[in-house]
Order: sequence, then C-alpha cells, then structure tokens
Amino acid sequence: MNRSRKIILASNWKMNLLPEDTKIYMEKLCPMIESMSSRLDIHTYVPYIDIQTALEYSKNSRIKIGAQNCHFENFGAFTGEISTDMLLSLGVKNVIIGHSERRKYFCETDEIINKKINKALNSNMSVILCVGETIKEKNAGIELEIVESQIVNGLKNINNKYLNNVCIAYEPVWAIGTGKTATSLEADSMCKKIRSTIEKIYGKEISMSTSILYGGSLNLENAEDIIIQSDIDGGLIGGASLNPEKFYEIIDRVNNIVKKEGKD
Ligand code: PGA
Repeated sequence: MNRSRKIILASNWKMNLLPEDTKIYMEKLCPMIESMSSRLDIHTYVPYIDIQTALEYSKNSRIKIGAQNCHFENFGAFTGEISTDMLLSLGVKNVIIGHSERRKYFCETDEIINKKINKALNSNMSVILCVGETIKEKNAGIELEIVESQIVNGLKNINNKYLNNVCIAYEPVWAIGTGKTATSLEADSMCKKIRSTIEKIYGKEISMSTSILYGGSLNLENAEDIIIQSDIDGGLIGGASLNPEKFYEIIDRVNNIVKKEGKD
C-alpha cells in the first residue's frame, strides 16, 4: 500500500445476486462506508441486470458501480453483448476487462481484451485489466512471462494519456474462488513486476501512479496482510464480497490501516 496512490477495494459479484438482493446490499453497505478515509475508493461490479438498482440505491454514496465486461463495437449483431454506450447511458463508467473467467469460459484472447480496453478508454470509461497465470503456468515457472505478455498485449497501442484510467488486477487463476491465496510476498513480488512492466512501456511516473490490485480468495483473514504490501494498492474481491457485512469488514480493516498512517 503506497501512501500516494488511491487504495481501491472492488467487489466482483460475477453471476450472483438479483435486483432485490442488490437493493438490500446497497442499503446496508452505503451508510457504513460514508465515513471511510477519502483515500479509499470502493467499487462494485455487478451483473447488467443489477446495474440500475445498484445505481439507484447507491445514489449520493461514494460507491462506484461498474460492469464486468463490455464489447468493443458500438452496436450491431452481437447477441448477448453490451456496448460501452449502453453502459454509459445508464451512468456506468467503470468496467472490468479480461477477467480470467472471461478468458477461460468465453475464449477472450489478449487481442480481444486489447480491443475492449481501447474501446472503453476511448469512451472515457475506467478499466480494471485482470491478469494472472494458471496453476499449470505457475508450475512450469513461466508465470512472469505470462503476466507480462498479458499486460503488454492487453495495453498494446494504448496511449499514455489514458493510463490514469487503467488499473491492473493481478489475479492468479489458481487462487480465484479456491480458498488458496498467494502469500503476501508472492503477491507483492508479482505486483512489483507488473509495475516494472508498466514502467518499461510508459515510464516511471505513470508506473508509480498506476494502481495495482490483488485478487484471488481475498477475505477478512488475509486482506490486511496482502493489501499492506508496498506495491499492492487494494483488492478485487469475489466470494467474500457477496455479503455486504463481510465486504464492509474487509473495508473497515483496510480503512483502519489507512487511518493509522494519518495521511487521510
Ligand atoms: P474470489 O474472486 O475472491 O472469489 O477468489 C476474485 C475474482 O475473481 O475477482
């Protein structure tokens, strides 16, 4: 956790929760986080069907509501897809791109991901680009090359003027939804390498201001230990964020660390 960068705690609901659950969730979470440090950014990435309810019940709160995907075309014959214009028409300005579940189950390649990032940034949206190696890649000792190539290819031809709207989430695939978390040192070391990859492409200043999150079985027990690391600027949280009280407990722990630093 670096003093000068924003700390982002983002919940990713994946394909969970209905609009009625969304209403209850936001009614519980929003008042609880109002007095949190201004250095914390709270995001919630909901299914499309929940967006309107999430926006309505988080109105005037500090939560940013985001989508979990978008298409790279403006409109057209793309059954089941959603465009950035559609998201923006609702007021959604944040989107996750390249989640490992999209890569694995929906065959999203770095090339497709790059097109989506390009489209979202050109539409003035902010992007969380997810990267991370599989267990097979980790066991083969090629996790560094994999993550580096996901970043280089994902951000190909993305102009540096957009980089303040890009955040990277390092999510080792073997840690997602498995209860197996990377150790804080493993996670920090990969996040450092991600920062140096960004530096190689965009220079020191941009690399030092880019937020890099960790995701993969983050929960109340391990969140502090991981998020306190110097190159980790927050977390992308799936399972442990589905319940607003549980998500709040994590936010509260991180908020206490930030407050202790006294730089609020
Ligand atoms: P998890 O999911 O916290 O349930 O492991 C994280 C993610 O996929 O973003």
